[in-house]
Amino acid sequence: MDVSFIDIVEDLTGVQADALVVGVFAAADGSDAGAPDLSVSAAALDAATGGMIGRALGASPRYTAKNGETLAIPAPGGLEARTLILVGLGDARKLTALAWQKVGGALAQALDARGVGQAVIALDPVDGADISAAGAAASFGYGVLLGGYRFDKYRTKLKPEQKPALTALTVATSEPSAAQDAFEEFVGVARGVALTRDLVSEPANILHPESFADRCRALAGDGVAVDILGEAQMADLGMRALLGVGQGSARESKLVVMRWQGGEADDAPLAVVGKGVTFDTGGISIKPSAGMWDMKWDMGGAGVVTGLMRALAGRKAPVNVVGVVGLVENMPDGNAQRPGDIVTSMSGQTIEVWNTDAEGRLVLADALWYAQETYKPKAVIDLATLTGAIIVALGEHQAGVFANDDELAQGLLAAGEAVGEPVWRMPLGEPYHREIDSQIADMKNISGQRWGGACVAAAFLERFIQPGTVWAHLDIAGVTFAAKDRPLVPKGATAFGVRLLDQLVRDRFEG
Ligand code: BES
Ligand code: MN
Ligand code: ZN
Repeated sequence: MDVSFIDIVEDLTGVQADALVVGVFAAADGSDAGAPDLSVSAAALDAATGGMIGRALGASPRYTAKNGETLAIPAPGGLEARTLILVGLGDARKLTALAWQKVGGALAQALDARGVGQAVIALDPVDGADISAAGAAASFGYGVLLGGYRFDKYRTKLKPEQKPALTALTVATSEPSAAQDAFEEFVGVARGVALTRDLVSEPANILHPESFADRCRALAGDGVAVDILGEAQMADLGMRALLGVGQGSARESKLVVMRWQGGEADDAPLAVVGKGVTFDTGGISIKPSAGMWDMKWDMGGAGVVTGLMRALAGRKAPVNVVGVVGLVENMPDGNAQRPGDIVTSMSGQTIEVWNTDAEGRLVLADALWYAQETYKPKAVIDLATLTGAIIVALGEHQAGVFANDDELAQGLLAAGEAVGEPVWRMPLGEPYHREIDSQIADMKNISGQRWGGACVAAAFLERFIQPGTVWAHLDIAGVTFAAKDRPLVPKGATAFGVRLLDQLVRDRFEG
């Protein structure tokens, strides 16, 4: 998809395109049944065509110009363009960067669905807007990239009408070169989002610890330093908690470290750690077969970390970040870990594995410890599709955040709000720790009763956070895979967390 920016076009009637797109605003008084208000470009076209747009709106009483809502006028008389499309901009006062992104995403999906190959959109400056014309245009283009994502590499028999149609979108704006500059940065982040979505979408026969590590290695081309540890190196480091999970798999477990050094050489990094269970059968504590295919995306946390590294490198972020992903496949096997096994983690703490399906916390225990020991980070954030319990608590709308630091928690809440990836704070605390005390080891990996499972898992992780380390854990089990299309998130792999952490890094860790 090619998004480009040009200067305002004086005479839109002469624009040659599959589709010419102009904006319309929701009626200023939402309660009255008033017709949408025309943007400057829409009004100019309306005048040039003897009131065609007004008549089209009059004939479409249900069209209210909500953000991203489109109305198509095919074969418009007096225009060179083959179709004129009105795109709703919603309430002019609410046109934030995120709202402009949503317009772009919704429009990209609508144009694709209509089979529009090439389109021109006139984006007029909005009176009294908080965002510059360039910011609006770049945000719009960013939304086009996010909302236009597809994963169809295995669809070999798509009919022409099922294939993505849109290849080129030209944005006419009063500030084309500033828009282009701002857009370049967004392209970097969008590539990170797409990488995460690709990784999460891949099935587990294709994406296993070794092939996942190979895809991480490819980030070297973007300036990310990549180190890959195999089982022998992890055994030397004493990472028996992680290794125990992968012990039943025919694939070698891997730990991948990705470093982006965009900041001062001696500045301590932010560490971002991801659960990368490339398939979670549950192991010997095997899961029921119904719906087990979902567990191909149990590497979602690692996918976000990898995509985030690409995003930061892609926009040359002035910050030091180290990403660590623990990659394992959790399989039942003659050599698999058994319920009741006791493993010694890299931290030296021993864990009684009551349930081999509570494996993500075992992987993270060693990955978190490794990140802290090796990089002495200024803060640690982990992401994991860790528990079904967080889905029971929050549904598929928000991720759970557990943090030992109020400022970091606040930063995550604010960043999530800004990018449309909301997170809700959940509790840590002593009572949850008491539930995982073990009779014969330092801890067990489950509580043994049903309640508060996401909080118990977070307490487990907290035992692998060194004193004084600022830490947050994001349980993304409910938000990693979407059943429904949204403007910026087509159904399937969401990459929830990439834009959130990119925003947090901008807000709290750069400069
Ligand atoms: N990967 C699962 C959690 C999960 C469930 C993610 C559904 C996405 C959708 C995790 O490894 C797991 O199996 N957790 C168990 C923990 C239990 C054994 C304490 C769970 O949530 O049931
Ligand atoms: Mn599991
Ligand atoms: Zn799992």
